[in-house]
Amino acid sequence: MNPKPLLRVLAGERVDAPPMWLMRQAGRYLPEYRALRAEKGGFLELVSDSEAAAEVTLQPIRRFGFDGAILFSDILVVPHALGQDLWFEAGEGPRLAPRLVDHALESLTAAPERLDPVYGTVSRVAAALSPQVTFLGFAGSPWTNATYMVAGQGSRDQSETRRMAYGDPAAFQAIIDAIVAMTIDYLAKQIEAGVEAVQLFDSWAGSLSPSQFERWVIAPNAAIVAGLRARCPQARIIGFPKGAGGKLAAYARETGVDAIGLDETVDPAWAHRELPAGMPVQGNLDPLALIAGGDELRTAATRVVDALRDRPHIFNLGHGIQQDTPIAHVEQLIAIVRGTPAA
Ligand code: CP3
Repeated sequence: MNPKPLLRVLAGERVDAPPMWLMRQAGRYLPEYRALRAEKGGFLELVSDSEAAAEVTLQPIRRFGFDGAILFSDILVVPHALGQDLWFEAGEGPRLAPRLVDHALESLTAAPERLDPVYGTVSRVAAALSPQVTFLGFAGSPWTNATYMVAGQGSRDQSETRRMAYGDPAAFQAIIDAIVAMTIDYLAKQIEAGVEAVQLFDSWAGSLSPSQFERWVIAPNAAIVAGLRARCPQARIIGFPKGAGGKLAAYARETGVDAIGLDETVDPAWAHRELPAGMPVQGNLDPLALIAGGDELRTAATRVVDALRDRPHIFNLGHGIQQDTPIAHVEQLIAIVRGTPAA
């Protein structure tokens, strides 16, 4: 039997205390992360330094003993590898240039070697992880990455990208196709370097109408799943179309992913009824309940575990852990989910 509970669940097995990890589990709520980030000078410096990125990946595993370790990197390394410049404005967020709202994709020169440090991180972490911990890689989904590539930064409603998808669907399709091809290669190389499953983050999937969702979320993710399986037949893939709501069941049926990540706005009991029988589900505690702690946290976490008791379940948050989350609350959550006495 595979000794890794998280991989067993991804293969469709139901296990008693759900295996757990937290999105953004390596990050600014951890003092050891802030210290290493300050030493290296910034977030992108950390990501491109394989030794430091491996250390950051392992920090939450050492501290909390999670069942899954997620590669420390960022989804925007793929736009960077497609030839855009990438930087972070202090206190604001990511920037990409030139913006594809006014520059043709053909003006970019792809630089896939920019991804090489990530594979170095993967092989270091794979060599260091203990046998019960599952190693997860990831990439951004094409739609979400495209919203940053087109606008050159994050935006509240992805309006410029949605306009381009309607106004010039051929040009937009070419951007999506370029992301799909780079992402297949990137995920295959992560798997070849040692990750055991991958997650596709589609943070802005919720901004699309149903027909646009079919075209720009479901179709490209299905293409990634098919392309990745052609290269790595053993690939285990978690899809996380944040905000998809009622479109989750179509996403689950049509993309070919092995498992579905739920954001915190989805009722897990609804998901259990609507998603294909036996399909593993990941999620979906509200990150703000984790900040609250105490009885609120106990009630919210128990509700998630109980709702998904009858299907393969990986416990997680519905979105990334926030920077002001008390470490003691993470410890409390682990005890609640695992049913260990410290709770
Ligand atoms: O889950 C993990 O711990 C793995 C690492 C990871 C990061 N970003 C590290 C990170 C993952 C999976 C991501 C995904 C990501 N990055 C998404 C999709 C998921 C989501 O959260 O919606 C998006 C949209 C991005 C782009 C991005 N990167 C944004 C909008 C930001 C925030 C900017 C800011 O200053 O907070 C980042 C930065 C980022 N990515 C941080 C981390 C730990 C914070 C870096 C820091 O300042 O130390």
